[in-house]
Amino acid sequence: MIGWIGLGHIGRAMAERLSEEYELIVWNRTLEKAKGFRNVAKSPEEVVEKADIVFLSLYDSNAVEEVSKRILSKDIKGKIIVDTTTNHHRKVLRFHELYKSAGAHYLESPVIGSVIPARNGQLTILVSGEKEAYEKALPYLEKLGKKIFYFEEPGKATKLKLINNFVLGAFMAALAEAIALGEKAGIPREELVEVLENGAGNSVVLKAKKEKILSEDYSTHFSIKNLVKDLSYAYDLALDANKTVPLNAVVRELYRVAFEKGLEELDFSAIYKIIREFSL
Ligand SMILES: NC(=O)c1ccc[n+]([C@@H]2O[C@H](COP(=O)([O-])OP(=O)(O)OC[C@H]3O[C@@H](n4cnc5c(N)ncnc54)[C@H](OP(=O)(O)O)[C@@H]3O)[C@@H](O)[C@H]2O)c1
Repeated sequence: MIGWIGLGHIGRAMAERLSEEYELIVWNRTLEKAKGFRNVAKSPEEVVEKADIVFLSLYDSNAVEEVSKRILSKDIKGKIIVDTTTNHHRKVLRFHELYKSAGAHYLESPVIGSVIPARNGQLTILVSGEKEAYEKALPYLEKLGKKIFYFEEPGKATKLKLINNFVLGAFMAALAEAIALGEKAGIPREELVEVLENGAGNSVVLKAKKEKILSEDYSTHFSIKNLVKDLSYAYDLALDANKTVPLNAVVRELYRVAFEKGLEELDFSAIYKIIREFSL
Protein backbone atom coordinates (compact mmCIF):
# COMPACT_ATOMS: atom_id res chain seq x y z
CA MET A 1 0.00 0.00 0.00
CA ILE A 2 1.21 3.50 -0.90
CA GLY A 3 0.50 6.44 1.36
CA TRP A 4 -0.49 9.88 0.06
CA ILE A 5 -0.74 12.97 2.25
CA GLY A 6 -2.07 16.20 0.74
CA LEU A 7 -4.82 16.34 -1.87
CA GLY A 8 -4.63 19.91 -3.09
CA HIS A 9 -4.66 20.86 -6.77
CA ILE A 10 -1.61 18.87 -7.82
CA GLY A 11 -1.65 16.38 -4.94
CA ARG A 12 -5.03 15.06 -5.98
CA ALA A 13 -4.00 14.80 -9.65
CA MET A 14 -0.84 12.83 -8.76
CA ALA A 15 -2.64 10.58 -6.28
CA GLU A 16 -5.34 9.79 -8.84
CA ARG A 17 -2.68 8.94 -11.40
CA LEU A 18 -0.92 6.55 -8.99
CA SER A 19 -4.21 4.96 -7.95
CA GLU A 20 -4.70 3.75 -11.55
CA GLU A 21 -2.00 1.18 -10.82
CA TYR A 22 -1.47 0.98 -7.07
CA GLU A 23 -3.53 0.68 -3.91
CA LEU A 24 -3.42 3.99 -2.03
CA ILE A 25 -4.26 5.16 1.46
CA VAL A 26 -4.76 8.93 1.50
CA TRP A 27 -5.14 11.73 4.05
CA ASN A 28 -5.94 15.39 3.67
CA ARG A 29 -6.38 17.94 6.44
CA THR A 30 -9.71 19.01 4.94
CA LEU A 31 -11.46 15.67 4.75
CA GLU A 32 -13.89 16.52 1.92
CA LYS A 33 -11.01 16.74 -0.54
CA ALA A 34 -10.39 13.00 -0.08
CA LYS A 35 -13.79 12.21 -1.63
CA GLY A 36 -13.59 9.53 -4.31
CA PHE A 37 -10.59 7.66 -2.84
CA ARG A 38 -11.23 4.14 -1.57
CA ASN A 39 -8.99 4.17 1.50
CA VAL A 40 -9.14 7.41 3.44
CA ALA A 41 -7.11 7.59 6.64
CA LYS A 42 -8.17 9.52 9.71
CA SER A 43 -4.68 10.92 10.30
CA PRO A 44 -1.17 11.10 8.83
CA GLU A 45 -0.17 8.70 11.63
CA GLU A 46 -2.56 6.10 10.20
CA VAL A 47 -1.06 6.55 6.73
CA VAL A 48 2.50 5.81 7.91
CA GLU A 49 1.33 2.87 9.96
CA LYS A 50 -0.22 1.28 6.87
CA ALA A 51 2.20 2.26 4.09
CA ASP A 52 5.94 1.76 3.65
CA ILE A 53 6.27 4.52 1.10
CA VAL A 54 4.46 7.78 1.76
CA PHE A 55 4.16 10.75 -0.60
CA LEU A 56 3.65 14.29 0.67
CA SER A 57 2.14 17.11 -1.40
CA LEU A 58 1.69 20.03 0.95
CA TYR A 59 1.52 23.79 0.55
CA ASP A 60 4.82 24.84 2.11
CA SER A 61 7.62 23.88 4.51
CA ASN A 62 5.58 24.89 7.57
CA ALA A 63 2.94 22.38 6.53
CA VAL A 64 5.62 19.72 5.96
CA GLU A 65 7.04 20.50 9.42
CA GLU A 66 3.62 20.10 11.07
CA VAL A 67 2.75 16.88 9.29
CA SER A 68 6.26 15.48 9.78
CA LYS A 69 5.98 15.94 13.55
CA ARG A 70 2.99 13.63 13.47
CA ILE A 71 4.68 11.12 11.16
CA LEU A 72 7.82 11.12 13.32
CA SER A 73 5.76 10.30 16.42
CA LYS A 74 5.42 6.78 15.00
CA ASP A 75 8.00 4.04 14.44
CA ILE A 76 8.95 4.73 10.82
CA LYS A 77 12.22 2.80 10.57
CA GLY A 78 12.92 1.81 6.97
CA LYS A 79 9.99 3.80 5.53
CA ILE A 80 10.43 6.11 2.55
CA ILE A 81 8.96 9.60 2.52
CA VAL A 82 8.73 11.15 -0.95
CA ASP A 83 8.12 14.86 -0.47
CA THR A 84 6.81 16.49 -3.65
CA THR A 85 6.16 19.80 -1.88
CA THR A 86 8.12 22.83 -3.13
CA ASN A 87 10.10 23.53 0.03
CA HIS A 88 12.41 26.16 1.44
CA HIS A 89 16.02 25.27 0.60
CA ARG A 90 17.15 25.37 4.24
CA LYS A 91 14.12 23.65 5.75
CA VAL A 92 14.45 20.74 3.36
CA LEU A 93 17.92 19.98 4.78
CA ARG A 94 16.34 19.75 8.22
CA PHE A 95 13.75 17.27 6.89
CA HIS A 96 16.54 15.04 5.59
CA GLU A 97 18.14 15.07 9.08
CA LEU A 98 14.91 14.49 10.98
CA TYR A 99 13.87 11.48 8.93
CA LYS A 100 17.38 10.06 8.92
CA SER A 101 17.57 10.17 12.72
CA ALA A 102 14.26 8.25 12.82
CA GLY A 103 15.82 5.52 10.65
CA ALA A 104 13.65 6.50 7.67
CA HIS A 105 14.59 7.76 4.18
CA TYR A 106 13.56 11.20 2.96
CA LEU A 107 13.48 11.99 -0.74
CA GLU A 108 13.08 15.64 -1.56
CA SER A 109 11.14 15.40 -4.84
CA PRO A 110 9.70 18.68 -6.12
CA VAL A 111 7.83 18.44 -9.39
CA ILE A 112 7.78 20.66 -12.47
CA GLY A 113 4.55 20.81 -14.46
CA SER A 114 1.02 21.29 -13.28
CA VAL A 115 -2.32 19.54 -12.86
CA ILE A 116 -2.69 18.38 -16.48
CA PRO A 117 0.86 16.93 -16.83
CA ALA A 118 0.33 15.31 -13.41
CA ARG A 119 -2.86 13.63 -14.60
CA ASN A 120 -1.03 12.34 -17.67
CA GLY A 121 2.22 11.24 -16.02
CA GLN A 122 4.12 13.99 -17.85
CA LEU A 123 5.76 15.79 -14.95
CA THR A 124 9.46 16.54 -14.63
CA ILE A 125 10.63 15.38 -11.20
CA LEU A 126 13.76 16.51 -9.37
CA VAL A 127 14.95 14.17 -6.63
CA SER A 128 17.60 14.54 -3.92
CA GLY A 129 18.30 11.86 -1.34
CA GLU A 130 19.83 8.42 -0.79
CA LYS A 131 20.27 6.42 -3.97
CA GLU A 132 18.85 3.19 -2.57
CA ALA A 133 15.64 4.87 -1.46
CA TYR A 134 15.41 6.65 -4.82
CA GLU A 135 15.67 3.33 -6.65
CA LYS A 136 12.84 1.91 -4.56
CA ALA A 137 10.67 4.95 -5.26
CA LEU A 138 11.50 5.04 -8.96
CA PRO A 139 8.62 2.89 -10.33
CA TYR A 140 6.12 5.26 -8.67
CA LEU A 141 7.99 8.35 -9.82
CA GLU A 142 8.01 6.96 -13.34
CA LYS A 143 4.24 6.65 -13.24
CA LEU A 144 4.07 10.39 -12.47
CA GLY A 145 6.87 11.83 -14.55
CA LYS A 146 8.33 11.63 -18.04
CA LYS A 147 11.71 13.08 -17.02
CA ILE A 148 13.37 12.43 -13.69
CA PHE A 149 16.57 14.10 -12.50
CA TYR A 150 18.35 12.41 -9.60
CA PHE A 151 20.92 14.17 -7.38
CA GLU A 152 22.50 12.61 -4.36
CA GLU A 153 23.17 15.99 -2.73
CA PRO A 154 20.42 17.08 -0.32
CA GLY A 155 18.94 20.47 -1.17
CA LYS A 156 19.93 20.46 -4.83
CA ALA A 157 16.52 19.42 -6.17
CA THR A 158 14.84 22.18 -4.18
CA LYS A 159 17.28 24.86 -5.33
CA LEU A 160 16.70 23.88 -8.94
CA LYS A 161 12.93 23.86 -8.49
CA LEU A 162 12.97 27.37 -6.97
CA ILE A 163 15.12 28.65 -9.83
CA ASN A 164 12.74 27.06 -12.34
CA ASN A 165 9.73 28.69 -10.74
CA PHE A 166 11.34 32.10 -10.90
CA VAL A 167 11.56 31.59 -14.68
CA LEU A 168 7.95 30.39 -14.73
CA GLY A 169 6.71 33.46 -12.85
CA ALA A 170 8.82 35.92 -14.81
CA PHE A 171 7.87 34.42 -18.19
CA MET A 172 4.16 34.44 -17.36
CA ALA A 173 4.37 38.06 -16.20
CA ALA A 174 6.21 39.07 -19.39
CA LEU A 175 3.56 37.39 -21.56
CA ALA A 176 0.77 39.01 -19.55
CA GLU A 177 2.29 42.48 -19.84
CA ALA A 178 2.93 42.00 -23.56
CA ILE A 179 -0.65 40.90 -24.28
CA ALA A 180 -2.12 43.70 -22.15
CA LEU A 181 0.05 46.24 -24.00
CA GLY A 182 -0.90 44.85 -27.41
CA GLU A 183 -4.60 45.07 -26.60
CA LYS A 184 -4.27 48.63 -25.41
CA ALA A 185 -2.51 49.37 -28.70
CA GLY A 186 -5.56 48.05 -30.56
CA ILE A 187 -4.53 44.47 -31.44
CA PRO A 188 -6.99 41.63 -30.68
CA ARG A 189 -5.85 39.15 -28.05
CA GLU A 190 -6.16 36.15 -30.38
CA GLU A 191 -3.80 37.76 -32.87
CA LEU A 192 -1.30 38.69 -30.18
CA VAL A 193 -1.22 35.14 -28.84
CA GLU A 194 -0.83 33.66 -32.31
CA VAL A 195 2.10 35.91 -33.17
CA LEU A 196 3.78 35.44 -29.78
CA GLU A 197 3.53 31.66 -29.97
CA ASN A 198 5.29 31.79 -33.33
CA GLY A 199 7.80 34.33 -32.07
CA ALA A 200 9.70 35.16 -28.89
CA GLY A 201 6.79 34.09 -26.68
CA ASN A 202 6.94 30.47 -27.87
CA SER A 203 7.25 28.48 -24.64
CA VAL A 204 5.78 25.78 -22.44
CA VAL A 205 4.27 28.60 -20.38
CA LEU A 206 2.32 30.07 -23.31
CA LYS A 207 1.31 26.59 -24.49
CA ALA A 208 -0.01 25.73 -21.04
CA LYS A 209 -1.75 29.05 -20.38
CA LYS A 210 -2.90 30.15 -23.85
CA GLU A 211 -6.47 28.86 -23.48
CA LYS A 212 -6.78 30.29 -19.99
CA ILE A 213 -5.81 33.76 -21.21
CA LEU A 214 -7.98 33.63 -24.32
CA SER A 215 -11.07 32.51 -22.41
CA GLU A 216 -10.19 34.39 -19.19
CA ASP A 217 -10.63 31.17 -17.25
CA TYR A 218 -8.49 31.54 -14.15
CA SER A 219 -9.66 28.37 -12.41
CA THR A 220 -6.69 27.21 -10.39
CA HIS A 221 -4.07 24.76 -11.48
CA PHE A 222 -1.19 26.55 -9.76
CA SER A 223 -2.25 29.39 -7.51
CA ILE A 224 -0.69 32.86 -7.28
CA LYS A 225 -0.35 32.17 -3.54
CA ASN A 226 1.81 29.13 -4.27
CA LEU A 227 3.93 31.03 -6.79
CA VAL A 228 4.54 33.93 -4.39
CA LYS A 229 5.64 31.36 -1.78
CA ASP A 230 8.13 29.92 -4.28
CA LEU A 231 9.40 33.37 -5.33
CA SER A 232 9.90 34.26 -1.66
CA TYR A 233 11.81 31.01 -1.11
CA ALA A 234 13.90 31.80 -4.20
CA TYR A 235 14.63 35.23 -2.73
CA ASP A 236 15.86 33.58 0.49
CA LEU A 237 18.07 31.36 -1.65
CA ALA A 238 19.51 34.50 -3.26
CA LEU A 239 20.16 36.05 0.15
CA ASP A 240 22.03 32.94 1.29
CA ALA A 241 23.99 32.82 -1.97
CA ASN A 242 24.79 36.55 -1.67
CA LYS A 243 23.39 37.14 -5.15
CA THR A 244 21.24 40.14 -6.02
CA VAL A 245 18.09 39.23 -7.95
CA PRO A 246 16.35 42.45 -8.99
CA LEU A 247 14.01 40.75 -11.43
CA ASN A 248 12.84 38.34 -8.72
CA ALA A 249 11.88 41.36 -6.59
CA VAL A 250 9.85 42.99 -9.39
CA VAL A 251 8.10 39.76 -10.36
CA ARG A 252 7.35 38.79 -6.76
CA GLU A 253 5.88 42.21 -5.94
CA LEU A 254 3.79 42.12 -9.10
CA TYR A 255 2.16 38.83 -8.10
CA ARG A 256 1.82 40.07 -4.52
CA VAL A 257 -0.69 42.67 -5.73
CA ALA A 258 -3.10 39.71 -6.00
CA PHE A 259 -3.20 39.48 -2.20
CA GLU A 260 -4.37 43.10 -1.91
CA LYS A 261 -7.07 42.42 -4.46
CA GLY A 262 -8.18 39.10 -2.94
CA LEU A 263 -7.14 37.15 -6.07
CA GLU A 264 -4.30 35.03 -4.64
CA GLU A 265 -6.19 31.73 -4.89
CA LEU A 266 -6.62 32.13 -8.68
CA ASP A 267 -4.36 30.46 -11.20
CA PHE A 268 -1.14 32.42 -11.67
CA SER A 269 -2.11 33.18 -15.28
CA ALA A 270 -4.52 35.70 -13.66
CA ILE A 271 -1.52 38.03 -13.54
CA TYR A 272 -2.78 39.01 -17.01
CA LYS A 273 -6.11 40.12 -15.48
CA ILE A 274 -4.28 41.99 -12.72
CA ILE A 275 -1.93 43.83 -15.09
CA ARG A 276 -4.77 44.72 -17.46
CA GLU A 277 -7.40 45.72 -14.94
CA PHE A 278 -5.23 47.57 -12.49
CA SER A 279 -3.01 49.23 -15.12
CA LEU A 280 0.19 47.88 -13.58
N1 LIG B 1 -0.35 23.13 -8.52
C1 LIG B 1 0.71 22.99 -9.27
O1 LIG B 1 0.64 23.12 -10.51
C2 LIG B 1 2.07 22.66 -8.68
C3 LIG B 1 3.12 22.35 -9.56
C4 LIG B 1 4.35 22.03 -9.04
C5 LIG B 1 4.55 22.04 -7.67
N2 LIG B 1 3.53 22.38 -6.83
C6 LIG B 1 3.81 22.37 -5.38
O2 LIG B 1 3.10 21.26 -4.82
C7 LIG B 1 2.61 21.60 -3.51
C8 LIG B 1 1.09 21.44 -3.49
O3 LIG B 1 0.56 22.33 -4.46
P1 LIG B 1 -1.01 22.48 -4.72
O4 LIG B 1 -1.15 23.35 -5.90
O5 LIG B 1 -1.66 21.16 -4.68
O6 LIG B 1 -1.40 23.33 -3.43
P2 LIG B 1 -2.83 23.54 -2.77
O7 LIG B 1 -3.90 23.23 -3.75
O8 LIG B 1 -2.77 24.88 -2.13
O9 LIG B 1 -2.88 22.39 -1.64
C9 LIG B 1 -2.09 22.47 -0.51
C10 LIG B 1 -2.25 21.20 0.30
O10 LIG B 1 -1.51 21.35 1.52
C11 LIG B 1 -2.36 21.06 2.63
N3 LIG B 1 -1.92 21.82 3.81
C12 LIG B 1 -1.58 23.12 3.88
N4 LIG B 1 -1.19 23.43 5.13
C13 LIG B 1 -1.28 22.29 5.85
C14 LIG B 1 -1.02 21.96 7.20
N5 LIG B 1 -0.54 22.88 8.05
N6 LIG B 1 -1.22 20.69 7.60
C15 LIG B 1 -1.68 19.74 6.74
N7 LIG B 1 -1.95 20.00 5.45
C16 LIG B 1 -1.75 21.26 5.01
C17 LIG B 1 -3.74 21.48 2.14
O11 LIG B 1 -4.71 20.91 2.97
P3 LIG B 1 -6.20 21.55 3.02
O12 LIG B 1 -6.91 20.96 1.85
O13 LIG B 1 -6.72 21.13 4.33
O14 LIG B 1 -6.03 23.04 2.90
C18 LIG B 1 -3.70 20.91 0.72
O15 LIG B 1 -3.88 19.52 0.73
C19 LIG B 1 3.09 23.03 -3.25
O16 LIG B 1 4.29 23.00 -2.53
C20 LIG B 1 3.31 23.60 -4.64
O17 LIG B 1 4.26 24.65 -4.64
C21 LIG B 1 2.29 22.68 -7.31
